[in-house]
Amino acid sequence: MNDFLMERNLSAEQVILSLMPIILFVVNIGMVAGIWMGAIKVNAGSLQIGVILAFINYLNIMMNGLMSSSNVLMQITRSFTSADRIGQVLDTNIDITEPANPASLPEIRGEVEFKDVNFSYSKNGEYVLKNISFTAKSGEKIGIIGSTGCGKSTLVKLIPRLYDADSGEILIDGVNIKEYPLENLRKAIGFVPQNATLFSGSIEDNLFFGKEQATNEEMEHAAQSASALEFIDRFEDTFAHEIKQGATNLSGGQKQRLSMARAFIREPKILILDDSTSAIDAISESAVQQAIKRNHPETTVFIVSAKISSLIDADQILVIDDGMVAAKGTHQDLLVASSIYRDIFATQNGKEEVSYE
Ligand SMILES: Nc1ncnc2c1ncn2[C@@H]1O[C@H](COP(=O)(O)OP(=O)(O)OP(=O)(O)O)[C@@H](O)[C@H]1O
Ligand SMILES: [Mg+2]
Repeated sequence: MNDFLMERNLSAEQVILSLMPIILFVVNIGMVAGIWMGAIKVNAGSLQIGVILAFINYLNIMMNGLMSSSNVLMQITRSFTSADRIGQVLDTNIDITEPANPASLPEIRGEVEFKDVNFSYSKNGEYVLKNISFTAKSGEKIGIIGSTGCGKSTLVKLIPRLYDADSGEILIDGVNIKEYPLENLRKAIGFVPQNATLFSGSIEDNLFFGKEQATNEEMEHAAQSASALEFIDRFEDTFAHEIKQGATNLSGGQKQRLSMARAFIREPKILILDDSTSAIDAISESAVQQAIKRNHPETTVFIVSAKISSLIDADQILVIDDGMVAAKGTHQDLLVASSIYRDIFATQNGKEEVSYE
């Protein structure tokens, strides 16, 4: 595409370059002619020199006007293309729809159940998730592990209805998530995506995205839970510290801690951490895990991670393989029951093989 664009630009420039001298030549011939004819009339005494000067000046002004309006025309043509694209985006229908008759449901407690869930992005039947079934009781900590691209992020994205399952059901407290008003559903969920975005503005502004009008205590508490307070306190202006666009003035680990704090401050009933501690050192990570257990005992927590150490204490670990739940259970169960899990454990423990009776 870039080559094509360059070709087009070059040929446009070539046309301009060959036309320009001709245009200027014609314009200047016109001026010479004007001066010539004017001079004859001045000689004959029927015209004053000032009139010729004024004529040439006006001619120049009109020429410049014509040239800049041709530039404007060019810009307009280009902006039509951009406007088309913006229109396309604005006109896209959102296929996640609100329930027609939202039931008035009690507050979400956080039990999550997947029943035979299938999901594909392209809707061509090539499923990214296949027959996913499991139950997470309210307050349980669920670990999700599996190789790159096996569908872990996709699985957790279905819970806040970022996508809808093709078939099967996802229930929260026994009610299909499609029956909750979207706002209620999403209010109950804290979601830290794999590549969380922080916005330019202060640290405080970013935390307000999690909870508007959060108090100082709430901010400190959330930051503490996410092991973020230590680095925030090191800034002279603490929570007022400015974050640049794309959070380029923060380290990867600091970004992850802040995005976790932003989720914690919501006090969600369901907390989803999609590989949110990948850039955080082991000591801080275990501090975060302790804090989650201590401060959010009733929150159902989904921890997606490639590291067994991040989810070793989970009440239930789902081993995902090629979009399917290959095994589930606690760390100890899986060491016995799942060869995939054993392999991951062995490589991460630096041992060639672990044998279990
Ligand atoms: N928006 C999308 N559109 C189309 N395909 C997608 C999209 N997002 C992910 N996929 C595909 O779905 C599959 C599962 O992706 P997913 O992001 O769930 O993997 P993952 O297990 O989270 O991987 P990782 O450990 O690298 O984060 C991959 O094959 C990926 O190519
Ligand atoms: Mg992922």
